[in-house]
Amino acid sequence: MNEGHAMTTAPATPASLSSADRTTPQLAAAMVPPHLRMMLALQDFEAPARRYMPRPIFGYVAGGVEGNVTLDWNRSTFDDIALVPRMLVNVSKRTQQTELFGRTYDCPFGISPMGGTSLAGFEGDLNLARAAAGCNIPMILSGASLTKLEEVRAACPQHSWFQAYLPGEEKAITDMVERVAKAGYDTLVLTVDIPVGANRENNVRNGYDAPLRPSLRLALQCLAHPRWLAGTALRSYFSRGMPHFENMGPRTPVMSRSAVRGRANRDHLNWEHFDLMRRLWKGKLVIKGILDKRDAVIAREHGADGIIVSNHGGRQLDTATSPLRVLPGIVAAAGSMTVMMDSGIRRGTDALKALALGAKFVFVGRPMLYAAAVAGEAGVRHAIGLLRAEIDRDMGMLGANSITEVNRDMLMPARAFDGYPG
Ligand SMILES: Cc1cc2nc3c(=O)[nH]c(=O)nc-3n(C[C@H](O)[C@H](O)[C@H](O)COP(=O)(O)O)c2cc1C
Repeated sequence: MNEGHAMTTAPATPASLSSADRTTPQLAAAMVPPHLRMMLALQDFEAPARRYMPRPIFGYVAGGVEGNVTLDWNRSTFDDIALVPRMLVNVSKRTQQTELFGRTYDCPFGISPMGGTSLAGFEGDLNLARAAAGCNIPMILSGASLTKLEEVRAACPQHSWFQAYLPGEEKAITDMVERVAKAGYDTLVLTVDIPVGANRENNVRNGYDAPLRPSLRLALQCLAHPRWLAGTALRSYFSRGMPHFENMGPRTPVMSRSAVRGRANRDHLNWEHFDLMRRLWKGKLVIKGILDKRDAVIAREHGADGIIVSNHGGRQLDTATSPLRVLPGIVAAAGSMTVMMDSGIRRGTDALKALALGAKFVFVGRPMLYAAAVAGEAGVRHAIGLLRAEIDRDMGMLGANSITEVNRDMLMPARAFDGYPG
């Protein structure tokens, strides 16, 4: 019997469960489809995803950059903070609903934009979007995605945001903004942390390229992963045709012997280009990839509605700081501008630490994509449910009834001693 729980005699059904029962992992697991039953935490999706995908594709998703120092920090930083729970607080009315840009979401987290998603799993972008909509959380469609932005918006008109990389020229910026607005999006996320391409050595080592180049090595990898070959590659090809990069630059197939994906020259981009976008885009405009509080101030002064503090999941500048470390300073500098955060969130406690440090909302990347790859929309719903349940349980144990009650008083440095001199 679990500590603190009385024995239940009648068979459990979701409706018959008390809130105390629902928080036990055993009963929660018993209520999900058998193939997801051992997916007890977000990290549990990674191993099945590794088995499912050909190595070049899994490596592209999982990888960081150069020595993966930032990638590792994104996780370890959370362990540098300890939680200090309060007791005998009535937490029976707890809710994690969060208001963001005028909409109330069921959870304080959403899904980060990820390019190439539909290469990892069949209809990856659509499954992420549908699951997000079903669970009432936002999903950000990547500009480097393989599904037309219009299709995702039509499938999930309330919960999809669109992420763009700033195109290099004014005309391209204008065209892109017009297209995104015409599709009906109301929130546009501009990712600014790729002025130049990242040194993704792991892609070279694993044989990943965009577009993928047909080769014996790739063919053998595909044959060695028959479930992906049948369930994602061939299924996509026969039902939807060859996937293309649909939303950024010239339309390019995801696999080609000779096609070259035209990449915009971005190293000259500056705040004047952002100003142009701000003038053109009437909806909410969010900048993703800010790590310096001075940039947060500039973003606010130039009219950004929000920023996502992010190091791109450790995929751009290696040894760049983890967002959690700079979050407090950025929140202090941001004034009334909405501050969100991603990179490394895997647990409810991670999300709550970021929220306690002042983030209004957080986003999760890779685990959601692994879930989409191995179990489609149901997998993503399950992943969202796991994180939601963790946050609910953690709030209960911390003594918080709402996200606004989660604050810095609940945190201390993991290795400090309260009151110990020096
Ligand atoms: C496979 C993959 C593709 C990504 N593509 C994009 C992208 O197109 N645009 C973008 O802004 N960020 C992109 N990112 C970064 C994510 O939006 C996000 O910042 C990061 O994954 C969060 O870290 P996490 O995976 O540790 O949760 C990508 C990340 C991954 C894993």
